[in-house]
Amino acid sequence: MRRTIARKRDGAALDDAEWQAVVAGYMSDAIEEAQLAALFMACYFKGIDEPEAAALTRAMVESGETLAPPVANCVDKHSSGGVADTASLIVVPIAAACGIPVAKLSGRALGHTGGTLDKLEAIPGVRTDLSPEAFAEQVRTVGCAVAAQSARLVPADKRMYALRDRTSTVQSLGLVAASIVSKKIAAGAPSIVFDVKVGRGAFFKDLSEVEALSRTMVHIAESFGRRCAAVVTDMNEPLGPAIGTGLEAIEARDFLRNGRRDPRLLALCAILATKMLETAGFAGDAAGAIRHALDSGAAYEMLERMLAAQGAAPGALDALRPHARMLEVRANRSGFVATIDAPKLGLFARALTERFGGTAGVFVHKRIGDAVTAGDVLATVFGGESGEDVLAAYGLADSAPPPRPLVYFEIASEAGGGPEAAAGEPRSRLATR
Ligand code: URA
Ligand code: CA
Repeated sequence: MRRTIARKRDGAALDDAEWQAVVAGYMSDAIEEAQLAALFMACYFKGIDEPEAAALTRAMVESGETLAPPVANCVDKHSSGGVADTASLIVVPIAAACGIPVAKLSGRALGHTGGTLDKLEAIPGVRTDLSPEAFAEQVRTVGCAVAAQSARLVPADKRMYALRDRTSTVQSLGLVAASIVSKKIAAGAPSIVFDVKVGRGAFFKDLSEVEALSRTMVHIAESFGRRCAAVVTDMNEPLGPAIGTGLEAIEARDFLRNGRRDPRLLALCAILATKMLETAGFAGDAAGAIRHALDSGAAYEMLERMLAAQGAAPGALDALRPHARMLEVRANRSGFVATIDAPKLGLFARALTERFGGTAGVFVHKRIGDAVTAGDVLATVFGGESGEDVLAAYGLADSAPPPRPLVYFEIASEAGGGPEAAAGEPRSRLATR
């Protein structure tokens, strides 16, 4: 191991056998934490190339079980984490209602970003600790399941991530790619859609870094024979209006049921659902099928069936209401919303849910680019007693900021082929303003 650490410190690319030895050695306690910490720091500064990230991914996958696909044509969807990213709760039932089964393993909130598991568990009765067998069975019988990563899958990631967290080495592109992709490979779905966030509220702020991360993830997943697509999307402000576990579950419910659909959230969900269908080999008009799943109520019914299968009390989702204490946050000047500090809002909403329960949080009314008059309601705080943090998260300016795209970049792959980039230019027709 000393030699391996020294090689990475000096900028060498480690070979497959070295990465195997690193992961196996750490899991068997033959390698000390101090040594792996040193290697990770060397990785942080010297980088990991794509073959290395693929070798690390393979070694991590081999630290545990790999599930067989519950159904041949099922798909998984991953988000690299953001604020008010309710998309998973919306697109999973949409794809399933279109006949494409979804087998999704999710994570918890990390820092300011929300976790799909926490949002599901804000609905009374819902369980996410399904065994791999129960998970697969639910995908087959209901059409979709969203469950926690089993301890039997990629046990190396849990230990390695904890060490990275303690040593400030999370932010290494190759380590992130291996961490994310290993879990998706072990989860078994033959098709995977990655929503890779970029911007102020994302893991990575820099577009070229995120482009490299996305390509690496797609290439690695393809090397395991998976079909996949990656979409690089904006996280410079909260994606949807609702921030907070229970508020986001309510948002997903109302989105699927009532047709009250935030335009930004709708635009991204339509893109992600289309990618999920296409990647899984859906034959026919994906956009039309998605519209029908929404308008007919089939997607909402699918969400209810999934929740019922995971233990939701009858009517629990329907009965969910925002926290009764409500406080309006008003603009203290006129102008335009120039910036919104998404991490600040994410952390604030998380603290509110921890103190006041799952249906506390923040609902954002004004978005970047919106004109405001002094006294307008910018956002509503549910549960909390002060709106100061929310007001401080808003940057108001005299003029409107330039429009930003919602989708910056797409990478698509087809079985047997290499990935194709849909050019690097922003897709301006998807601009939110
Ligand atoms: N999410 C993960 O699962 N792993 C990382 O390393 C970073 C984000
Ligand atoms: Ca191709």
